[in-house]
This record gives sequence, C-alpha cells and structure tokens, in this order.
Amino acid sequence: MSANFLFFISFGMILLERTSRYFFVSCLTEDQANLGSLVFVSALYRHGDRTPVTSYPTDPYNNVSYWPVGWGQLTNIGKCQHYELGQWLRQRYSKLIPEAYSPEDIYVRSTDVDRTLMSAASNLAGLYPPEGDQKWNRNIDWQPIPIHTVPEKMDEILAGKRPCAQYEAELLRVKTSPEVRRYNEEHADLYRYTSEQSGNKIHDAESLEFLYNTLFIEELYNFTLPNWTKKVFPEQMMSVASYSFTIPAKTKLLQRLKIGLVS
Ligand SMILES: *[C@@H]1O[C@H](CO)[C@@H](O)[C@H](O)[C@H]1NC(C)=O
Ligand SMILES: *[C@@H]1O[C@H](CO)[C@@H](O)[C@H](O)[C@H]1NC(C)=O
Ligand SMILES: *[C@@H]1O[C@H](CO)[C@@H](O)[C@H](O)[C@H]1NC(C)=O
Repeated sequence: MSANFLFFISFGMILLERTSRYFFVSCLTEDQANLGSLVFVSALYRHGDRTPVTSYPTDPYNNVSYWPVGWGQLTNIGKCQHYELGQWLRQRYSKLIPEAYSPEDIYVRSTDVDRTLMSAASNLAGLYPPEGDQKWNRNIDWQPIPIHTVPEKMDEILAGKRPCAQYEAELLRVKTSPEVRRYNEEHADLYRYTSEQSGNKIHDAESLEFLYNTLFIEELYNFTLPNWTKKVFPEQMMSVASYSFTIPAKTKLLQRLKIGLVS
C-alpha cells in the first residue's frame, strides 16, 4: 500500500510530565466533510491516569498497598482513557487511515517510560482492532502494533532529556534570577509549613509541585487527606505548582534550546 500520509503518534513527557491527564493536540479543522487536503497528522499526547510518582515521609498512603500497580504507573482508568482515545481517533480519521493496520500508514513513538509505553499500547488497541486477515487469535480482539522509543538520555524529541549544557546554564540563570528568587521569598511561609508537615524538604516552587501532585492524585482517588493540608491545598499549592510549570520554558532561549524548530 502506498499512502501519501503518515499518522504519527507520540507521547510527550517534557514539561507536561507532572500531571496525570493526557493532552491531545491536533492541527485539523473540525470540518469532517472537507478532508480533501488532509495529508498528514501529527498527534501528540500524554499518558493516561497514573499513580503518584513519589510519596512524602508523613503520607498516610505511603504504602504501595494503596497503589497496587506501583508508583508512577498507568492505572486501569488510564488504560481505559487511552483505549477510548484510540477509538475516537479511529472515527475521527476514518477517511485518512485504513482500518487494517499497515506500517505504511502510521509511526508511533513513545518516551521510554512504562506509563507512556503502556498508554500507547492501550491507545493502539482502540485504534486498530484486528479486522479480517489480521485476526490472529480468536480469543483476543487485539493485534501487536510497533511502538518505537529511545532511551531518555538520547531523546531530544519527546523526553527532552538529552543533555544540553546551554539549556542547563540558562535554566540555572532563570532559577536564580531576581524574579524567581522574589517569588520563592514571597512563598517562604508556605514552603516552611509544607516542609514541617510533610517531612519533605520544600524550598522552591518545583519541590512544592511534587508534593502538590501527590496530594492531587490522592484526592482524585478519594483518599482523605491529612488535616494540615486544608490550609494550603488545593488553592495555594496549585498556584505555586502552576508557576513551577512555567520555569523550564520561561524564556525564549529555554524554549528554543529544548524544543528547537517547533517554537
Ligand atoms: C503496607 O500495607 C500492608 C498491607 O496493609 C501492610 O502489611 C504493611 O505492613 C504496610 N507497610 C508499611 C511499611 O506500613
Ligand atoms: C471518587 O469518587 C467519585 C464520586 O463518588 C467517583 O465518581 C470517582 O470514580 C472516585 N474516584 C476513583 C478513582 O475511584
Ligand atoms: C481532622 O479534623 C477533624 C475535624 O476538623 C477531626 O474530627 C479529626 O479527628 C482530625 N483528624 C486528625 C487525624 O487529626
């Protein structure tokens, strides 16, 4: 089959790594009827629902028995989210990608992280249920689809973790800039309070963000949070966690060094 289009799915981690929902980006118009000029789709999204990546010393839920799939792993909810997204993509691009899988039609790349690889596999189960000849086992409504990856330290496209001295230097400059220093000084009381209560060393927006993220997921799972959190969670902590997200791409130079031509 010679297709003049390619469906590219990738799993972005960089800068989006720290919350639990996936993002889907598409450059298409909503006009389903007018797909005449559509030749290529690049879809980028995150992993599905996951467990907290880390706990904190005084966490009542600091026990993997609360998180049977392990820390930072894709949950069954996350698998369902991606299975459904795959089904949605199948419908959305039904005119672009044939139902039968062909390596000519699609290239899938994921970061080299359990939860993103598993999200890709779940997504593709929804996108390519085997049809006709491709049914290979009558007990499983699934077929293997290749998912490409590279080790994180070599991945400058999705994980963005390939070392870059110039980026690190600029990041350090930003983190020690008057603006960021002032921000951290203004939130010193919050850092002190959360450090004392959580047992974590919280000294900047980023270290607070990790704690916020753990609490966020525990609340999502309907766990009763400790009383001390009521004073600062979610509002105050969310605002600082959001600020923390802006730092890795705070300047044009950081954006260009990390993302290259895209930005
Ligand atoms: C974790 O939970 C299991 C099951 O409830 C319990 O047996 C174990 O002692 C707990 N571990 C810690 C470190 O609290
Ligand atoms: C938490 O509780 C809400 C409301 O009962 C429910 O809809 C949701 O599924 C629960 N979350 C989880 C992860 O079980
Ligand atoms: C948390 O506060 C509630 C009421 O404000 C109280 O009933 C409960 O005992 C407190 N829990 C802990 C662990 O201190």
